[in-house]
Amino acid sequence: MSRFIFILGTNWRLSLAEINNILECPPYKGRVTDYSASGAVVEFEQEPIKDKNFDWLMFQLGGTQKIGKLVEFIDLRTFQEAFPKEITSEMTIQSKQRKYIENILKDACYPIFGKIQPIKYFVANSIYGITFQKAYYKTLVQHFLPFLNKEWMKILKEKGAKNALYYRYPEDRINKGTLNPLFPHHFWAYKLFQDHRKELLYVMTEEGIHIGYTINVTNSNEMKKLDENRPYKDVKSSIPPKFAKIMLGLLHLKKPNASNRILDPFCGSGTILLFAHTMGIQTYGMDLEPERIKGTLKNLKWVSKILENPQKINANQYKEGDIANLSSIFKEFSFDGIVSEPYLLPFYRELPRYEQLSPVMEQLVVPSYSKLFSEGSKILKERHRIVVTSPAVETLDGGRYRINIEDIAAEFGCYPVSIYGNSFIAEKSDQDLQLFADKKSLYDDNTEIIRREFHIFEKSTKRD
Ligand SMILES: C[S@@+](CC[C@H](N)C(=O)[O-])C[C@H]1O[C@@H](n2cnc3c(N)ncnc32)[C@H](O)[C@@H]1O
Repeated sequence: MSRFIFILGTNWRLSLAEINNILECPPYKGRVTDYSASGAVVEFEQEPIKDKNFDWLMFQLGGTQKIGKLVEFIDLRTFQEAFPKEITSEMTIQSKQRKYIENILKDACYPIFGKIQPIKYFVANSIYGITFQKAYYKTLVQHFLPFLNKEWMKILKEKGAKNALYYRYPEDRINKGTLNPLFPHHFWAYKLFQDHRKELLYVMTEEGIHIGYTINVTNSNEMKKLDENRPYKDVKSSIPPKFAKIMLGLLHLKKPNASNRILDPFCGSGTILLFAHTMGIQTYGMDLEPERIKGTLKNLKWVSKILENPQKINANQYKEGDIANLSSIFKEFSFDGIVSEPYLLPFYRELPRYEQLSPVMEQLVVPSYSKLFSEGSKILKERHRIVVTSPAVETLDGGRYRINIEDIAAEFGCYPVSIYGNSFIAEKSDQDLQLFADKKSLYDDNTEIIRREFHIFEKSTKRD
């Protein structure tokens, strides 16, 4: 069984949640066998042969930066003996263990490069620590990286390469120990898809170092282009493309994309629908504002022209309307998923006061979510999902203000399901790697005042 390395985005918990949900549905059935805050090891039940470069999977994932083929593993104890936290003098154990690591790299050479030809080779060593914040990452950058550069040059030349070069990271970064591994787009810029040019991945977890090489990377430029160049935009209220894709992954769609019908009832400029459309999913949308519906349609028609086999666009699938009337507007349909970001709230420059926020939340936000679940549950298929974000706001005087979305949803037969899917990912002992005790929701780590909480609810007339 072959295994793969997935390099996770900055919101790594969300990325893991997305991967786990996708791995529970065909055609990519599998499981995560190990993870850290920077990467996950994925084992597929059956290697997707038709898609051996994972183009399609990579395209669907919003939270994964790179996919690599896993080839070797060094257990943590051996590794830390070879590269202890404080490297003062060359201890004997170090050189013995380093010899062992050299042999592992030699073994990895054939699976990565095949038979070495008398030509010029190029390697870029990308090291991913358990987290980039940990002090030990500095040791990896300052000691493991030069070791790898030197060893690979030696191995490749010994095995018959005419010459071998390695990617040189900026010296000042190495000295500071704050190195960023290669960006995904470097895969194309440095032609690292060629047989004699590879990006080698070293992902550290609590178990050890997983070694592999990159076979595919996210096309974040493409995502950005679609987002920025679409004819109708509303920068302030749009959801970032990576989150739109992650939410689609959390829908857990089990049928082939073209057979799924999904709805965004607060579609705005249609970001989520646009990305769903690029994946070949049948999209439906609603918004209170007629101009948003026109804009969404414009965007979908625009993106259709770029796609090879786009779904037909039927203007009747996008309606102006109030969430209170959702089930009468779409009464003839039953949906495989509802996915939406209903509220972002005003952009606060400073922390708001609790009582300033309270009326907005109670009179505007809560009733909208209540309608979303009461109406949405009527047109959603049984055992299918509503994936939704909700705002959680830091206040000056009363801590974090969040809406109790779980209780609102439960009133209408929609129950929270684990954000990480049904399959179990073993928790790690490291505090920084905890998946959160409450696995029902996750948030976007990057916002300071308003946090986007991500939730999955399943419609069920019978509670388990
Ligand atoms: C946060 S925006 C959604 C943005 C969207 N995800 C995007 O990326 O463009 C929320 C949308 O909900 C719409 N809306 C507000 N109240 C509504 C209601 N009662 N019924 C339906 N839509 C409503 C607004 O017009 C707005 O376009």
